[in-house]
Amino acid sequence: MIGIASDHAGFELKQHVMQWLAQHGYEYKDFGTYTAESCDYPDYAHPLAFAVERGECERGIAICGTGIGINMALNKHQGIRAALCWAPEVTVLARGHNDANIVVLPGRYIAPETAYEILQIFLTAPFEGGRHKRRIDKIPVP
Ligand code: RB5
Repeated sequence: MIGIASDHAGFELKQHVMQWLAQHGYEYKDFGTYTAESCDYPDYAHPLAFAVERGECERGIAICGTGIGINMALNKHQGIRAALCWAPEVTVLARGHNDANIVVLPGRYIAPETAYEILQIFLTAPFEGGRHKRRIDKIPVP
């Protein structure tokens, strides 16, 4: 199960992404927002983050205008490693090195086609482990 959330600035890309997920056989849960009306990204980031932390969603996808605000809110959760990805190359590293469990997309700055490439990688690329496991284990505030 993939969780997905956005604010109004990510709403349009979220619609494209949900269609892509369905076409590729992924089950998803939409945490909102459900209209293009102006709203506050933390209201959608936190429910998605809780669902990923609880294991109700294996992975998450989050979208706001720049990706920055929603990424900040998500990463306040100890169990979340949210990665702002704008290109396929960084997404390979977000999975391989950072074991990102939520991918964050800048809805106002990438085309749907780029988002699909990013998602294809995010949903399939493995974590490399080893020295990277040691590093991600040190991320949570002690
Ligand atoms: C909304 O206008 C915009 O500020 C928001 O989507 C995001 O880019 C914030 O970081």
